[in-house]
Amino acid sequence: MRHFLSLKDFSKEEILEIIDIGLEVKSNLKKGIYKDELSRQSLGMIFEKSSTRTRVSFETGMYQLGGQALFLSSNDIQLGRGEPLKDTARVISSMVDMVMIRTFGHDRLEEFAKYSKVPVINGLTESYHPVQLLADYMTIKEHGLEKNIVAAYVGDGNNMTHSWLMLAAKLGFELRVATPKGYECDEGIVKLALEFAKESGAKLIFTNDPQVAVKDATIVTTDTWASMGQEDEKEERVKAFNGYIVDDKLMSLTASNSKFLHCLPAYRGQEVSEEVLEGADSLIFEEAENRLHAQKGLMVWLNNKI
Ligand code: CP
Ligand code: NVA
Repeated sequence: MRHFLSLKDFSKEEILEIIDIGLEVKSNLKKGIYKDELSRQSLGMIFEKSSTRTRVSFETGMYQLGGQALFLSSNDIQLGRGEPLKDTARVISSMVDMVMIRTFGHDRLEEFAKYSKVPVINGLTESYHPVQLLADYMTIKEHGLEKNIVAAYVGDGNNMTHSWLMLAAKLGFELRVATPKGYECDEGIVKLALEFAKESGAKLIFTNDPQVAVKDATIVTTDTWASMGQEDEKEERVKAFNGYIVDDKLMSLTASNSKFLHCLPAYRGQEVSEEVLEGADSLIFEEAENRLHAQKGLMVWLNNKI
């Protein structure tokens, strides 16, 4: 049995296998073919934070695979009233076939997985958001850009940045990360990514200059400057991230065939301009839709490993 907690635990071959299953179920769905690979199965979805894409994609995905999903907001289950996580994990995993959790510290996810009898999927923690990267890579592949990825991440050194680092380090592509001083990536995660990069040949570059990061890049991406749980820091962050907006001026430095990605939700006029977000090179809504297909691929893959 495997969990999907971070891309750090997955090989290049495994990541590509998941994407390929996702592309196959996507193509089947578009033809109206449903194979019910997860017939009669239940996915428990625990949310300790808000969500639009993650909830809708997992819930719909599970239904399309012949199963069902349970939306378990921590406000409504006993977890939110203090029932220990390890008890919650043993109870829920004795009744469902897979669990997805969106939570705060990555250690909470790891603790749940330790006590779970069924595969656990990371639906976002403070450290990583790996299901998003499956959708991002699927989108890159569909646009035929996977052979020549020079990716630039401009913004906060957060769960999305860490996930990009792991994807690049595992698949072996170039990633430049531009963060303001004081908002760099987690040192331990960077160290780990650099270790993997030695094996894969990935080039990981860190800078405080967005213009250096995006020069001739084929993929440009960013994320909110204030993640969920950082609402109180919003004002100081907007000041600290001055000059980090991905706008037409910054995009003009990228390769001529470059594309823009964003996990969403996006804050127009902060990390990205309206023109870039809505522009011809923006793939954001295909990327969002691919959450559904990539995660179906993941759930089928995890089920095959049991
Ligand atoms: N990108 C993403 O995970 O979106 P939600 O927060 O809406 O799930
Ligand atoms: N970094 C953001 C991603 C939201 C999908 C957050 O954690 O809130």
